Amino acid sequence: MPPALKALVAQLAGWLAAFLLARSGALGSGIWPLVATQAIGATGAAFALRSARWWLPLHLAFMPLVVAARALDLPPGWYLGAFIALLLVYWTSFRTQVPLYLSNRATAEALARLLPQGPARVLDVGAGTGSLLRRLATLRPDCRFAGVELAPGPWLVGSLLLARRSRQVEWRRADLFSVPWADYDVVYAFLSPVPMATVWRKAAAEMRPGSLLVSNTFEIPGRNPDFVVEVGDRRATRLLAWRIPASRAPK
Ligand SMILES: C[S@@+](CC[C@H](N)C(=O)[O-])C[C@H]1O[C@@H](n2cnc3c(N)ncnc32)[C@H](O)[C@@H]1O
Repeated sequence: MPPALKALVAQLAGWLAAFLLARSGALGSGIWPLVATQAIGATGAAFALRSARWWLPLHLAFMPLVVAARALDLPPGWYLGAFIALLLVYWTSFRTQVPLYLSNRATAEALARLLPQGPARVLDVGAGTGSLLRRLATLRPDCRFAGVELAPGPWLVGSLLLARRSRQVEWRRADLFSVPWADYDVVYAFLSPVPMATVWRKAAAEMRPGSLLVSNTFEIPGRNPDFVVEVGDRRATRLLAWRIPASRAPK
């Protein structure tokens, strides 16, 4: 079951538990016993559904916060505004399970050192706000860069940030799996564990032998990297790199 559906089922299970207990007369009066029962029920259901551990505190806090927020008496437009802002930034993260977080400066510098000598073509798949590409373009003016980003919010920020570099950086709003990767010497991915097997299949099927797939942090299941670069920053970033083999068959 996809995580977003699990979350919905857990919340509904929490409400069912609260409703049944309230009907049996076992709950005290007022809204808070009901809310506490819902929260505990939802958390228990999420646990039973084997949701990732970080979902549990979210379920425990969700309904109490919703009820507490009502006391603030904010105009409903604020909630709609916050929802739209989050939607523009995270877009299909509930499906792709790849949220927005950005590579830092030290990582950009380490990646720039990995690029081949001479003019190379580099693609950032899931390029966020384009901040990494902007740094790379400054560090390696002899290379050409491209970024694909699906979420409209980061893509729009990237369009503004990269407007002056349109000759060196191609910036597109697209799904990273729908664009060809064959033209690039280096493909850089900072995604999540979830799509990495698919990333490898696409890289092995499309990228030229000898070109490089670099993943910030996330491993490809069952495939050791050809080499690893320790960035040496505070979050102990590791760049994992795979050289595309001559054989085209994905392994
Ligand atoms: C962790 S961020 C990395 C941003 C940037 N590459 C960096 O290193 O600073 C991952 C980005 O991938 C985007 N993303 C996730 N799935 C995608 C897809 N299928 N196609 C394009 N972009 C995607 C997300 O919206 C998010 O902005």
